[in-house]
Amino acid sequence: MVDRITFDGPVILGAGLAGLSAALAAKTALVLSPTPLATGCSSAWAQGGLAAALAGDDTPSLHAADTIAAGAGLCDGEAVALLTREGPAAVRALAAIGAPFDRKPDGDFVLSLEAAHSKARVARVGGDGAGAAIMAAVIATVRATPSITVRENARARGLLQDETGRVVGVLAEIGGDLVEVRAKAVVLATGGVGGLYAVTTTPTQVRGEGLGLAALAGAEIADPEFVQFHPTAIDIGRDPAPLATEALRGEGSILRNTDGRAFMADYHPARELAPRDVVARAIHAERAAGRGAFLDATTAVGGHFPHEFPAVFEACQSAGVDPRREMIPVVPAVHYHMGGVATDLDGRASLPGLYAAGECASTGVQGANRLASNSLLEAAVFGARAGRAAALEGEAGGEAVSLATLPDLPDEAFQALRKAMSRDAGVIRDAAGLARLQGEIVALEAAHGPCPPLVAARLIVDAALARQESRGGHYRSDFPEQAVPARTFVTLDPVQAGLRHAAE
Ligand code: SIN
Repeated sequence: MVDRITFDGPVILGAGLAGLSAALAAKTALVLSPTPLATGCSSAWAQGGLAAALAGDDTPSLHAADTIAAGAGLCDGEAVALLTREGPAAVRALAAIGAPFDRKPDGDFVLSLEAAHSKARVARVGGDGAGAAIMAAVIATVRATPSITVRENARARGLLQDETGRVVGVLAEIGGDLVEVRAKAVVLATGGVGGLYAVTTTPTQVRGEGLGLAALAGAEIADPEFVQFHPTAIDIGRDPAPLATEALRGEGSILRNTDGRAFMADYHPARELAPRDVVARAIHAERAAGRGAFLDATTAVGGHFPHEFPAVFEACQSAGVDPRREMIPVVPAVHYHMGGVATDLDGRASLPGLYAAGECASTGVQGANRLASNSLLEAAVFGARAGRAAALEGEAGGEAVSLATLPDLPDEAFQALRKAMSRDAGVIRDAAGLARLQGEIVALEAAHGPCPPLVAARLIVDAALARQESRGGHYRSDFPEQAVPARTFVTLDPVQAGLRHAAE
């Protein structure tokens, strides 16, 4: 017997910045968080900040132009215009609820430069502590809002749909019990896919759950092959790998190999501030050639490290590296998923009653390569828009046609998947590796059923195999040139058909 809750508002899956922004905008919401608040979500780990045209010499259209240039031909211009136009107000709204952005003596925001931005426009907190501080302010506001109910240690085991396909709620595991949660709408805010890879900067619990749930329900998925690798995760054998923020390169830190040679000039005229995918491939190439890769902040940051970049300093110290005097060993790591559940500008997915926001959504703003510090901004702006729209949905009338829970992926299989994804769907891909990986995922699905992380992995791999070009975060060594720009839109059935073909 499954208990039933009927909630008069949207149910929101996930409690990062997108999920909680949606809850605050909806005013009345039920938030299901798989972990205690402020843990297990990438937002709280963000070191960068929010990019927005806050400086006197900056404008939303300059910010939009940089976003579109980084997006390598696949950004949706309307979504980018909206994001960059609403950016300054979103930062000020977070400041108004207590996010303690770094300020100058005159009260203006301190703004940092990050790669591929033409202006210093990243509003930060305590150097590298933006995510944790912003989330603390948002969580305090949510906790002080009686009409928002938060259930921690609650996770989705399947979406509920009526016979027309409308999403009418979620089958959730709350405190160990299965509960049918009926709601006006479901907002997916489950984060990205970092945990699907062996080397990631995101919490390992973030493993494409929302993407898999939505795809299994028949929602349209966009651009799943576009995974962003942060060039400089700290290579000290930790899982997840701690991040060495891009702002360190913005401050003038240099990438060197084991011999101390600064190598970025060999790869791009903008050197350390080249687009993120270029820097990631350069580091990958140096490591693959046995030359190693290190970030040298000894001159650019030096003695200021402990107070300017306390989180990075602490991570280095934990492994016996003193970044004031020594180079930091770095490795590219999965950091962000540009693809996701396809949505309109109000977070609406292709299925009635279903919304998505933040990293698990694909609004089209991130294109083939996200511009640094546009993700917290997207979470705040589009999370709020999704929450407002979801709150206006009418009652979900129909009964759910099935109450089946989706299977869990056993840990051993999950670890095998992570290794295989890093090996074959990483910084550099080719047809042989992707086809081998596809076969391994098919075998895991045959053994364990349609677990959402496996479905998410399959979407990434199928689309990466189908995209016979290199663009943004997707680099094919067998197709190094760009083809005509076109986004990917898929639903699960054709993908399954593709897999059957591959398995024959
Ligand atoms: C960083 O601080 O390097 C990460 C910023 C981002 O990924 O947006």
